[in-house]
Amino acid sequence: MAEPVHWPNLSVLSVTKPPLFCNMTTRSNDNQIRFWNHGPGSNWVTYQRGLDQCFENINRRLLELCVIRPGHCILDIGCGAGATSIALAKKYGNTVSITGVDVSKPLLKHASRRIRSIKPMPASIRLIEADVQNKPLKPAVYHQLVSRFGVMFFADPCAAFRNLKSSLRPNGSMVFVAWSTVENNPWFQIPKSAAISRLGNAAPVDPREPGPMAFADLDYLDGILRHSGFRNYSVEEEDNVIATRLPVDQMADLACNLGPAIRLMKEKNGTVQDHETIKEEVANRFMEYETGGGLEVPVRLVVCRA
Ligand SMILES: C[S@@+](CC[C@H](N)C(=O)[O-])C[C@H]1O[C@@H](n2cnc3c(N)ncnc32)[C@H](O)[C@@H]1O
Repeated sequence: MAEPVHWPNLSVLSVTKPPLFCNMTTRSNDNQIRFWNHGPGSNWVTYQRGLDQCFENINRRLLELCVIRPGHCILDIGCGAGATSIALAKKYGNTVSITGVDVSKPLLKHASRRIRSIKPMPASIRLIEADVQNKPLKPAVYHQLVSRFGVMFFADPCAAFRNLKSSLRPNGSMVFVAWSTVENNPWFQIPKSAAISRLGNAAPVDPREPGPMAFADLDYLDGILRHSGFRNYSVEEEDNVIATRLPVDQMADLACNLGPAIRLMKEKNGTVQDHETIKEEVANRFMEYETGGGLEVPVRLVVCRA
């Protein structure tokens, strides 16, 4: 287990309350581990092809921001079905060594199948099943930490980022992308509003709860990184685009089986008919982004470089 956060003696510094963004003790990630193994998170296996096509521009941007040289060791955090690890192996070949870490057995299994099917098979990728918040990582191993949407699911983000920081070599770099708010991302907003129209409002949740938008508040993310010991870093919003040739009904199917729509379906015990109606509405609304050469849906990311 990672060490708990130690705050200054509060009886002496009575005006100093622990900041909201760090917990006093390390919390369990059991809910998220269940979600990514047995819940809607495991749908990422079914939709892997479509997702990777949608996120191609984002993966390219992520790789552009990495600082990688021959001989470097790279950790892909929350590697899922392996898109970023595979893209790195294609770009750098066997001159680097890549470790993909994740808590999801089905996603790791899928990643492993995909890696084995690549000819020649990249010798440089290894996959490990571990919770990067609670499993102490070997100190000072990695030159580069990287993540495409794999770092927003920690119950205790400070514990996770302290652990990750300890695994970085001096002068190592960390780059990750997360999502800005639902309102800034139509590919979440449209399914969410279609699901609410059909099923009613979701129970209120803390926007900082583990989930895709947990780091949409830049000040919150800034506090987490600072309290985890990072010093030279930036967190910024950046616009990108999901450009895909997926037919609009397939894109609607994908968007309704991941993210807020499926969460609301679960919460309200939605029926197959509800799901179909929501999907139809989402497909209609995605038509706004049809260019004639495929869909182009704007996205707003949170990009961290440290
Ligand atoms: C949104 S998916 C992104 C997957 C992949 N990076 C991609 O872009 O396709 C988030 C991933 O983070 C993983 N994850 C969540 N919590 C984790 C934790 N505590 N330690 C390691 N991986 C975690 C999930 O299992 C999931 O594969």
